[in-house]
Amino acid sequence: MPRLSVNIDHIATIRQARRGTEPDPVTAAALAELAGAEGIIAHLREDRRHVQDRDLRLLRQTVQTRLNLEMAATEEMQRIALEVKPDIVTLVPEKREELTTEGGLEVVTRLETLQPFIGRVQGAGIPVSLFIDSDEQQIAAAKKSGALLVEIHTGAYANARTEKARDEEFEKILAAARLAASLGLRVGAGHGLNYANVQRIARIEEVEELNIGHSIISRAALVGIDRAVQDMIALVAD
Ligand code: PXP
Repeated sequence: MPRLSVNIDHIATIRQARRGTEPDPVTAAALAELAGAEGIIAHLREDRRHVQDRDLRLLRQTVQTRLNLEMAATEEMQRIALEVKPDIVTLVPEKREELTTEGGLEVVTRLETLQPFIGRVQGAGIPVSLFIDSDEQQIAAAKKSGALLVEIHTGAYANARTEKARDEEFEKILAAARLAASLGLRVGAGHGLNYANVQRIARIEEVEELNIGHSIISRAALVGIDRAVQDMIALVAD
């Protein structure tokens, strides 16, 4: 069974809607760990639209499991990673205008810049994972890059509109996971996984870790409404 790591970005998204202090993603991370999460993931984006530098620093101090910093391969982010020292760094592509990470990292054509970048981060004792599409060439390039891990992008599988398309995407993920593992890379998977589509991916033997955010935070908001309303009624009635 793969480990579940929880991405807390969207707790920060709710907080940033008011630029206030609640809900605090640091508290959410602690609660996720108490519930059994074996890792916490935070994506510090260049535009700081959700997770803030302060969150990352506090998460570093409080996360008891493994803190995975998702980031773009930029000089600024490398400096932050080397300062904060997360347990793992996941390199993702990042576009300012995107709603979420849209595709996997382009490794094949960027090997020359990625190799020294990864070497520097791993040289500081932080293993690097590359978030890549289920593509043979990207996986082979990931191996050449020196990264120790890959995270296979499950977005196309999650967003497939027909069963046939979903089956095809699943087969690609399966083949990619097997290839990566055969090359000695450790394998994770994530993006768009939810309560309806996760099980098939979780059963892939080579997948050691699932990284899930939006669906868990969405469900937390809904299953928590009953209690939250009752708490407010009790105060109003008091
Ligand atoms: N893995 C990576 C590399 C991501 O960028 C994201 C989204 O931030 C996730 C996993 C989690 O995706 P989701 O929020 O759709 O579960």
